[in-house]
Amino acid sequence: MTSIKKIGLLTSGGDAPGMNAVIRAVTRTALMNNIEVTGIVNGYAGLFSKEFINLNALTVSNIEGTGGTILRSSRCKEMMTDEGRDKAANICKEYGIDALVVIGGDGSLTGAQTLAERGISIMGIPGTIDLDLACSEYTIGFDTALKTASDAISCLIDTSNSHERCSVVEVMGRNCGSIAIWSAIASGADIALVPEVNDITTEDVIKKVKHTREKGKKFSLIVVAEGVGGSVKLAKDIEENTGIESRATVLGHIQRGGHPTVLDRVYAAIMGNKAVQLLINGETNKIITVQNGKCSSIDLEEGLKLQKTKKKFDKDLYDVINTLSI
Ligand code: F6P
Repeated sequence: MTSIKKIGLLTSGGDAPGMNAVIRAVTRTALMNNIEVTGIVNGYAGLFSKEFINLNALTVSNIEGTGGTILRSSRCKEMMTDEGRDKAANICKEYGIDALVVIGGDGSLTGAQTLAERGISIMGIPGTIDLDLACSEYTIGFDTALKTASDAISCLIDTSNSHERCSVVEVMGRNCGSIAIWSAIASGADIALVPEVNDITTEDVIKKVKHTREKGKKFSLIVVAEGVGGSVKLAKDIEENTGIESRATVLGHIQRGGHPTVLDRVYAAIMGNKAVQLLINGETNKIITVQNGKCSSIDLEEGLKLQKTKKKFDKDLYDVINTLSI
């Protein structure tokens, strides 16, 4: 049996739909096992300002289908310094937080590792729309963001088709093209520009647009990842070089909001539950993952090391876009 009496819980970095469902799962599993849950408001920043709330069964009632995070989130500069990390670890100890559950992406889990090094017991849960963690096949929020992006692209296709235009759509993903690739496949895009592939030129895109028109297609769809950017300029260049009216649309932060999909809610419930179960079993300093379709876990340090070494880009998936376009 566990010696853990109190868990601290925070959401950090860019929010992701499904974070609330994780908060509920962690809280309910802990309470069921007589473990108290302290919600830390506003990510790591709330540790420094000691903005804590006691989470009970009712605080987390009926939140599994809501977007955003009831604990709020931030990107905390203080956690980037050794001094700040020492302070954060000391605050956890001072407030009797026996284990800290961190829901967030790469940067948030890296912050958690610095606390693990200072003796704080950590459980990391991947929560980011970007699907950019090497150690996990899934990150909570991706499916919802993908649905939001794909629904928006469907609307754009309707109007592009009516006007025989070219639509350039920019989706989120600063360092990772997952949302761009998946939404491009889901929407039958002609081409996707992602940070992982840097040899596609504006001339290549123009050539592709011309080619699809010659084949008789009445509209064009180019999906651009945020990390590549320049969608307004690209639309202008396409219009100038092809004579085809072109419009750019940057979807932006709408992709981070909205009700989580069923997939996100279910993964959130399973992963949140697993995090607490592992702590109860005496395990510590792990990232909860999805591997081969099953909820699993990996050593925190090893998971972060993979982030630096393992090639995450799925070229085969990327090539599907090209194969299926005209
Ligand atoms: O949450 C991940 C992400 O959405 C990235 O795709 C994007 O680059 C970044 O967050 C933007 O974050 P913010 O505008 O909140 O700093």
